[in-house]
Amino acid sequence: MSRLVMRDVRVEHRARGRGTVLAVAGVDLRVGAGEVVGLVGESGCGKSSLARVAAGLSAPTAGTVAFDGEPVTPLGWRRRDTAQTKLQMIFQDPGGSLNPRRTVGSQILDGIPPGEASEDRVARLLDRVGMPPEAASGYPHQFSGGQRQRLAIARALAAEPELIIADEPVTALDASAQAQVVSLLLSLVRELTMGLLFISHDLALVHDIADRTAVMYLGKIVEEAPTRKLMACPNHPYTRALVGAIPRISRAPMLPAVLRGEVPDPSSAPPGCRFRPRCPHAREVCLTEPPLREAGGDLVACHRVEELADDR
Ligand SMILES: Nc1ncnc2c1ncn2[C@@H]1O[C@H](COP(=O)(O)OP(=O)(O)O)[C@@H](O)[C@H]1O
Ligand code: SF4
Ligand SMILES: [Mg+2]
Repeated sequence: MSRLVMRDVRVEHRARGRGTVLAVAGVDLRVGAGEVVGLVGESGCGKSSLARVAAGLSAPTAGTVAFDGEPVTPLGWRRRDTAQTKLQMIFQDPGGSLNPRRTVGSQILDGIPPGEASEDRVARLLDRVGMPPEAASGYPHQFSGGQRQRLAIARALAAEPELIIADEPVTALDASAQAQVVSLLLSLVRELTMGLLFISHDLALVHDIADRTAVMYLGKIVEEAPTRKLMACPNHPYTRALVGAIPRISRAPMLPAVLRGEVPDPSSAPPGCRFRPRCPHAREVCLTEPPLREAGGDLVACHRVEELADDR
């Protein structure tokens, strides 16, 4: 059963000099109980805008978000009396979840449901993320980036979440800290049967983590499939290019050339298929927008997916 259900979510930002930016242009995404879902795409494609809406930190411009059937809204988040405490978010910069002026212990204590808060509970949470009990009296700046991310995870766990939304949680860390934080997140998800929405611009990282992966391009999901299948047999030209750019996964580079050049600005997305200006397979049909539809058992938004599969 899906626990987090997002339907046709749109997020618009008003940006100075750019008019209205449609960062998320109609996305459906679900995360089931205990499921690890990866969301990948290049920087600027709308991942964080979608994550904040999923976590109830901001409201969608249109569309709905529900957790176990209850609407997730920023108002509900503030009241902290509904589904929202079951959803916790971890940010790229742990500063997003930790206040620099307060001790780590007091912030973890705040996250624990009323009536259950105790020093002992804080120590157990710290232990669970591999930190010593003395960390409770420290301030965030006294820790390394990797340790701060562990502390942010402890803070999130304090609320006994059922789903964690992790937005580029290891992007700012060095390789060894990355591996540690990823394995910590995965062990927690398994042990506590939490869901995890793991967001990254790095498909190679998501490959190691997610049961299912959605690929986002300029505000839209262009392909969604079980991760192994997506990696072994990517369908959408954009996914092919992303997979082809990972040397240790691809046997033959597929379309790495198309990933040259910047992602276009969402405030001036091309009409029709948004990937068209970078797609080597574009034809006239691509001037109309391809819907996300079933192809080979997965979801793909490309008019030519069947023809391209024949080419392989
Ligand atoms: N608060 C904001 N105000 C204006 N524009 C924004 C805001 N947040 C994001 N954007 C724009 O929306 C688009 C998507 O951004 P974002 O959701 O951060 O993508 P990602 O996380 O994939 O990098 C970008 O073009 C970005 O510049
Ligand atoms: S719809 Fe056309 S432009 Fe878009 S990805 Fe498919 S072939 Fe390329
Ligand atoms: Mg982001």
